[in-house]
Amino acid sequence: MPSPAAVDAMLERERALFIQRNPHSRDLAEKAARNWLGGVPMMWMAEWATPYPLFIDKAQGITLTDADGNTYKDFCLGDTGAMFGHSPAPVAEALAREGAKGLTTMLPSPDAAVVGALLSERFGLPAWQVTATASDANRAVIRWCRGLTGRDKILVFNGCYHGAVDDTFVRLDDQGRTVADPGLIGEVHELTRTTKVIEFNDVAALEAALAPGDVACVLAEPVLTNIGMVLPDEGFHEALRELTRKTGTLLVIDETHCMSSGPGGYTRAHGLDPDIIVLGKPIAGGIPAAVYGFSEEVSARAAARITATPEGHSGIGTTLSGSAIQMGLMRVVLETYFTEETFAALNVLAERLEQGIAAAIARHGIDWHVVRVGARVEFMCCPKRPRNGGEAARVIHRPIDRAVHHYMLNRGLLITPFHNMLLIAPATTPEDVDRLVTTLEACMTELVQ
Ligand SMILES: Cc1ncc(COP(=O)(O)O)c(C=O)c1O
Repeated sequence: MPSPAAVDAMLERERALFIQRNPHSRDLAEKAARNWLGGVPMMWMAEWATPYPLFIDKAQGITLTDADGNTYKDFCLGDTGAMFGHSPAPVAEALAREGAKGLTTMLPSPDAAVVGALLSERFGLPAWQVTATASDANRAVIRWCRGLTGRDKILVFNGCYHGAVDDTFVRLDDQGRTVADPGLIGEVHELTRTTKVIEFNDVAALEAALAPGDVACVLAEPVLTNIGMVLPDEGFHEALRELTRKTGTLLVIDETHCMSSGPGGYTRAHGLDPDIIVLGKPIAGGIPAAVYGFSEEVSARAAARITATPEGHSGIGTTLSGSAIQMGLMRVVLETYFTEETFAALNVLAERLEQGIAAAIARHGIDWHVVRVGARVEFMCCPKRPRNGGEAARVIHRPIDRAVHHYMLNRGLLITPFHNMLLIAPATTPEDVDRLVTTLEACMTELVQ
């Protein structure tokens, strides 16, 4: 393992280099600080590890150009929002074409019929709804699950992230107690009363938590992807399905990140059988859009519920959801990118990246490892794969991650902040992959010296 002194030295040098390379971004950051809370239009933009935010002038394919004219190969891709690249031609053309026809009417456009059929065909569930973001979709789904089961509790896995969704911000603390996320702002409800949280891959805990029959739904990513990547144990998804079914608990699979697995997401690639699926981020090429899909049985229950519900606000649905522009873009993205051919090509390069990093790790005898979920690759600066969110939390967000991020950024390679995720897009080339591996290896060489 690299010494803390080597990590600190690299971080300090690379931060100085960042400042030297980005004077124009610094000017913009100073100006923006006057009128934006925290200096940025959205808080997370200030949470990258850099001394100030990098201002991006242009993003095309996987190439970013910053305000100082530096270019980067982007392996972050907007943390999945631009999974198929930045404004690829089919998306840019559709945006111009659809934009000229009117953006939103609160009535369905003809594309709605096509998109519904495409979603069903790709992801295997028959009944869909559109929202503006994956956070919105998860909130709506939780509401539906409570409404359909008459139960108020939900269950999530420790270390999960499902968007800005109050119910999911519950954690296990060091003593294994259920607590609200200490970072929450403005929380008034006692979240631990209605949210159960257990460790991923813990079948015994799952059985115990569902046994009382009071949980409306389990909301789960098929692989935890927001705390490094935590893969399911052999048989875990089968147990999850069996136990949810046995206890009348709805199973919601949030594919927002794991749809990197293939044209039908992780669900189809691994034969899962959820009651509800959530898809967000890249589903409309990067404009705000997300969808959730219901199984035949859940959609029948939802239809009956709608019929039986008196007039009034359901608490589900927002004005700009299901708009013509979302439909036009989703149609293009589903037709163009959610195909076997696209994912076959992405997987070839993702495998090259995974193997390249694994070989570099082996050559240096450094205590790291690498995992892959389709087009999504993550290296973690710890020797063993964590089996759950608690284990993962203990080994990420450390100075070593920040030093590596800076090192790569100053050499024209962007990796995802908060952890070390790398996504392959259709525009990524073998040369881009090899450049990332070589640069990461040079970084390792320096760290272990
Ligand atoms: C698994 C998962 N679900 C939902 C979301 C929320 O997406 P958004 O921020 O676009 O609402 C995220 C965001 O990172 C996510 O990782």
